[in-house]
Amino acid sequence: MNAVRRLLGPDFEVYPVGLGCMAMSGVYGPYDEAEAVATVRAALDNGATLVDTADMYGAGQNEELVGRAIAGRGDEAHVATKCGQVLDGAGRPIGVDGSPDHVRRAFEASARRLGVDRVELYLQHRVDPAVPIEETIGAMAQLVADGKVRHIGICEASASTIRRAHQVHPLAAVQTEYSLWWRGIEEEILPTCEALGIGVMAYSPLGRGLLTGRVHSAEDLAPGDRRRDHPRFSADNLARNVALAAEAEQIAAGLGCEPAQLALAWLLSKSEHLVPIPGAKHRRHLASSLAAANLELDSETLARLDAAFPPGAGAGLRYPERQMATLEL
Ligand SMILES: NC(=O)c1ccc[n+]([C@@H]2O[C@H](COP(=O)([O-])OP(=O)(O)OC[C@H]3O[C@@H](n4cnc5c(N)ncnc54)[C@H](OP(=O)(O)O)[C@@H]3O)[C@@H](O)[C@H]2O)c1
Repeated sequence: MNAVRRLLGPDFEVYPVGLGCMAMSGVYGPYDEAEAVATVRAALDNGATLVDTADMYGAGQNEELVGRAIAGRGDEAHVATKCGQVLDGAGRPIGVDGSPDHVRRAFEASARRLGVDRVELYLQHRVDPAVPIEETIGAMAQLVADGKVRHIGICEASASTIRRAHQVHPLAAVQTEYSLWWRGIEEEILPTCEALGIGVMAYSPLGRGLLTGRVHSAEDLAPGDRRRDHPRFSADNLARNVALAAEAEQIAAGLGCEPAQLALAWLLSKSEHLVPIPGAKHRRHLASSLAAANLELDSETLARLDAAFPPGAGAGLRYPERQMATLEL
C-alpha cells in the first residue's frame, strides 16, 4: 500500500477518496462557511481522513477554515497542503517560487493557519523552472527531518522531474489533474508513479463539476466563479463539453448511480496507486462521492467510458493561458 492510501486512514478500503477543500474559498462561487466546516467534519466522521488544501486557496483563508474544522481532531485528520504559487493582490496566481527560503517561510505560515505542529503531506504546488527541483525538495526534506512534515509530494510535474525529486527524498504523492476529461497522465506520469511506489492524487476528478450533471451552461456558474475564466467553460467549448458529459450521465442513469459517482468509480478502476480528491463544499456531495467507493464498474461499462472519453476528448485548455505556462505536462 502506498503512503497516500495510508493517509486515508484505517478505513481506506471503505473510503478510498479524500476531500478537496479548494472551493471553500469562493473560487467556484459563494460558499457557506458553516456548511463547509460541517463538510470537513462529516468527512472525518465517516473515516475519510485525507483533507486537501493549499496556502494559495483564498490566500490563506482556506487553511484557516480547514484548521477550524479539524481543531481538536488533529489525530484523525490527515491534511495535505501546498506551497509555491505566488499571488497578486486579488489572490490570483501570477508566478511560482520554489526557493528553499520560500518553502520554509510558507510552511511556517501554513502550519500556523492550520493550527498544527506537523503537516501530514506537504506538496510543491507548481515546479519553479528557475530553481533546480533538488533544491526545493531538499528544503522540503529538511522539514521532514525536523519532524514538521510527515510526507512530501509535488503537483503537475513531468516524469523526469518526479524521478529527480524522488532521488532527493521519497515522494509520497504526485498530485495532478486526472478525470474522464483529462487523461494526460496515463501515458507517462501514472506508470512512473506506479513503478516508484508513489501515490497519485487525482485532482478535479469531476472535471471541476462538468461530470456531475450540474453544469449545462455558463448561467449555472455564479458571477464571480473562476471557472468562467477557464477555456473549458467558455461558451463554444462548454456546449461541446456538456454534450460529451451527457454520455456519462446516460451511462450513470442506466446503472442507477449519480454521474459524479460514475466518474470517481472509473478513476478508482485505473490504478491501485490512485486516490481521487473530489471537491465538495456541501455534505450531500461529500456523502455521494464517498459512496462511489462501493460502485464497481463492469468491464463493459469501463470500455464504454473509455471509448466515450478518449484522451483529448474534452474541448479547451485546462487552465487560462498564463496558468498553463506553470504546468510541466
Ligand atoms: N494541485 C492542484 O493544482 C489542484 C488544482 C485544482 C484542484 N485541486 C484540488 O482538487 C480538489 C477537487 O478539484 P475541484 O474542486 O477543482 O473539482 P472537482 O472535484 O472535479 O469538482 C468539484 C465540483 O463538483 C461538485 N460535486 C462534488 N461532488 C459531487 C457529487 N457527488 N455530486 C454532485 N456534484 C458534486 C462540487 O460541488 P460543491 O462544491 O457545491 O459541493 C463542485 O462544484 C480541490 O478542492 C483541490 O483540493 C488541486
